[in-house]
Amino acid sequence: MDRFYITTPIYYVNARPHLGHAHTTILADAMARFNRLMGREVHFLTGTDEHGDKIVKAAVASGKSPQAYCDEISAIFKDLWPHLGVEYSQFIRTTDPEHKRLVQKALQKVYDSGDIYFGEYGGHYCFGCERFYTEKELVDGCCPDHKTKPEYIAEKNYFFRMNKYQDWLLEHIKANPEFIRPEQYRSEVVALLESGALEDLCISRPKSRLEWGVELPFDTDYVAYVWFDALLNYLTALGWPDGEQTAKFWPAANHLIAKDILKPHAVFWPTMLKAMGMEPFQHLNVHGYWLIKDTKMSKSLGNVVDPLSLKDKYGLSGFRYFLLREMTFGYDSSFSEEALCGRFNSDLANDLGNLFSRALAMTHKYFGGGVPQAGLGGPDEEELILMAKDACLNFQRLFERFQTAKALEALWELVRGLNKYIDTQAPWALFKENNGSRLATVMYSVLECMRKVAVHLLPVMPEAASAMLAQLGQDGGTTLNLQAEAEGWGQLSAGTAVAKASNLFPRVEPPAPAVPAEPAPKAKEAKAAPSPAPAAPQGPKEPIDFEDFQKIDLRVATVISAEPVPKADKLLLVKLDAGDPEPRQVVAGIAEFWKPEDLVGRQVVVVANLKPRKLRGVESQGMILAVKQDGRLELLAPSATVAPGSAVS
Ligand code: ME8
Ligand code: MG
Repeated sequence: MDRFYITTPIYYVNARPHLGHAHTTILADAMARFNRLMGREVHFLTGTDEHGDKIVKAAVASGKSPQAYCDEISAIFKDLWPHLGVEYSQFIRTTDPEHKRLVQKALQKVYDSGDIYFGEYGGHYCFGCERFYTEKELVDGCCPDHKTKPEYIAEKNYFFRMNKYQDWLLEHIKANPEFIRPEQYRSEVVALLESGALEDLCISRPKSRLEWGVELPFDTDYVAYVWFDALLNYLTALGWPDGEQTAKFWPAANHLIAKDILKPHAVFWPTMLKAMGMEPFQHLNVHGYWLIKDTKMSKSLGNVVDPLSLKDKYGLSGFRYFLLREMTFGYDSSFSEEALCGRFNSDLANDLGNLFSRALAMTHKYFGGGVPQAGLGGPDEEELILMAKDACLNFQRLFERFQTAKALEALWELVRGLNKYIDTQAPWALFKENNGSRLATVMYSVLECMRKVAVHLLPVMPEAASAMLAQLGQDGGTTLNLQAEAEGWGQLSAGTAVAKASNLFPRVEPPAPAVPAEPAPKAKEAKAAPSPAPAAPQGPKEPIDFEDFQKIDLRVATVISAEPVPKADKLLLVKLDAGDPEPRQVVAGIAEFWKPEDLVGRQVVVVANLKPRKLRGVESQGMILAVKQDGRLELLAPSATVAPGSAVS
């Protein structure tokens, strides 16, 4: 059986998890789920990195012993992941006794083979990075990552003969173009190796300076350099050198990191493996940074975003979708809540949510809620089936390479294509014409494609995708396989009962724009400015009987499209799904306040039995309810999405 071993970096416990850690771990989780759906046996490892100077400093600062401090923060990481839908197979801590024992075993092995020697070294040491920098590597005398001044340290230490493996590594990278991916990081490492002699690596710290680490088995005055300890977690977790897991999952390893730790993973780690007599891992997968206003989000810079608060607002599925859709693999991405909200509303509430609510509502209206038996398809169905196959294959090809943004883009070709197919096939017209067999074929095609979309979304948004499958009457069991989805057609059985309504992604109001830092107006000016007129309170109207009120057909409708009415600045022609067999059009005087694209996908409340009348020659079949205040026009809507056509009572 094909195997897939996915790892995240083990995170330092000197601070709490933020959006950057959440991104890597969620991406790793998505890859684990994806590979299971591709029929592979998967092992998914994450954990915490707990030795070294900066952990000790953080512990001292919080008034705790290093061990108590590590226990506390490690538990925060471990407990966070399930809240973000992350199902790891194993969580490792570098303070686990078994890990420490195996690190000593590895050190002894390399020492015995002659690849570790004792020597003297002086260099610029950054405590944040836990590494020495050469003069050349510093920027204005500071660490390029932490922007702090390193300390010059000279002392006797143990060194790993990394230089010895330089040529081997270069050749290995050249012979395996996807060993480091994407390409820009491979070139970076090749350039580094080609630029000159790779230095040997200092792998010890004298206990006089640091005690919090794994003791060297061959010299008890020293502990191991934190990276020599940390990188080994990928093997010690499997029980290296023995054990079934090692044989199973090595070298099937796919390491996932951000570019900050490229050098340790692309240079230290493969050369360490070589010296230990182990095969190199399969792939090193490198993503970029989440930025806040052009600066890396990082705990040392203090500009971090809390993943849980975003999850609470946008839902787990919305949050995971955004991370995996917004960041192009390998590149940096700027984080803003506006971008998150925009993606949520356009891709999820509009494109995907709308597709589900429309299609399910129509299945109920035309077929009593059961999947119809498809008739013989025509050229439009052939085209749709081809589109579905392409979307599945492209999604899989890209996801396989961690290119989740492009993979989702490929899948959305199908989501949008389905909305378009519904618009052009116009099931409501087929219904009116009594063309039952065409109507069945069209609706079947839509529902079967929706099922394929949902199966592909399982790795990205396990919660929502399972809900989608449940709405389509599928149990989402373990027999699902993505490769079968690309090839097959017709897995959805006729007669399956589908849900009546779908409320997957209720629109989220965009966050209030940040208030620009303007000087407060002077008291005089403030006085002179006219205060906004308060909303004119309406005088009481004549009482009416309940029967009179009941005569009004008030319904919730979803906006399908909106466009300006020619030669009428204030009017928009709005097409609505108000639960009727066909779209209903309303001419609304809202053009000054609403852009057509902001209306699509929104739900509104309409008076559906207002006698049709013509406005500027265009028939209007009802009225959209709104409130006008302070120069704004707010539309009435239910507090959460409901099935179009639902009665307001
Ligand atoms: O480096 N954008 O741990 P660490 C995206 N213990 N990802 C980010 C990010 C950002 N702004 N900030 C952090 C260590 N990350 C070592 C690793 S592995 C054997 C030892 C993520 O806590 C990203 O995955 O500093 C990055 O590589 C990792 O957190 C660094 O975590
Ligand atoms: Mg870091």
